[in-house]
Amino acid sequence: MAPPCPKPHASQPVAGGCPSAEAPREGGRSTATTPPETNPPKTNWPNHLNASPSNFVSFAATFWYQTRVSLVKSKQRVADHGEVFTPAWMVEAMLDLVKGETERIDSRFLESACGDGNFLTQILRRKLAAVELKYARSDFERQHYALLALMCIYGIELLPDNIAECRVNLLEIFAEYLNLAPADDLYRASFFVLSQNLVHGDALTMRTHDALPITFAEWGYLGKGRFQRRDFRYDNLTQSSAFSAEGSLFAHLGKHEIFQPAKTYPPMTLGELSALAPEIIP
Ligand SMILES: C[S@@+](CC[C@H](N)C(=O)[O-])C[C@H]1O[C@@H](n2cnc3c(N)ncnc32)[C@H](O)[C@@H]1O
Repeated sequence: MAPPCPKPHASQPVAGGCPSAEAPREGGRSTATTPPETNPPKTNWPNHLNASPSNFVSFAATFWYQTRVSLVKSKQRVADHGEVFTPAWMVEAMLDLVKGETERIDSRFLESACGDGNFLTQILRRKLAAVELKYARSDFERQHYALLALMCIYGIELLPDNIAECRVNLLEIFAEYLNLAPADDLYRASFFVLSQNLVHGDALTMRTHDALPITFAEWGYLGKGRFQRRDFRYDNLTQSSAFSAEGSLFAHLGKHEIFQPAKTYPPMTLGELSALAPEIIP
């Protein structure tokens, strides 16, 4: 979704006044608490514009706060990595541009500079809402389709603390929705999926942090509790549209002839996915 290094544009109020944008926040930005009166606006921009003068002033103050007090961890990280986070209201507005897709359980989203998951967490929430609408009556279906929703969310992030936070943020939302405990198979399976789908690497070189080609798992739900997995190399996937472009040397070839999976797995159950989870789970 967001390109790796857009110009700084994001911010979020923090408790205890207006800290300098330059000051690093201890433990990362997620430790900041937001006073209720300065909660970032969500999708209700027009309402704020139509609100009473006092509400409007409050909105204007919030907006100023959000745009001036950048959601940054340090000035150095902004300079080095373009690390500026997107405010919640803007995330919602952008996701609304593809609302239908965000509310489809098996639509696939990749954010190639995912930070700690501002976009991916909200996509997950929307997908889980779709799961709830469709499968609330059966715990079995609800759990399996919720995992499928998670399986369709992908990210790449350069910085190790961001990718770790991103995994935790998604895991928390998923576990809370299904009321999971860390020892549950589904919790462990979801942790495994996140460890595969959220890649610590460089989206420009398309390599992981340990210099391997980035691969993504294409997950599918076969029904009856079984999931399918095929892995594809990211560099191949990014060439896919160029190869199939009209007039291209390879246009006559079906995609299937060039873009074979790097690996295909036998169908797996929740229990089998859970067994693949690393031993240490946050
Ligand atoms: C502008 S921030 C956006 C973060 C998040 N997408 C958001 O909107 O809140 C850009 C993020 O991209 C990461 N990044 C920078 N260069 C990257 C690269 N080559 N590959 C992957 N991530 C990168 C930074 O560490 C940072 O977390």
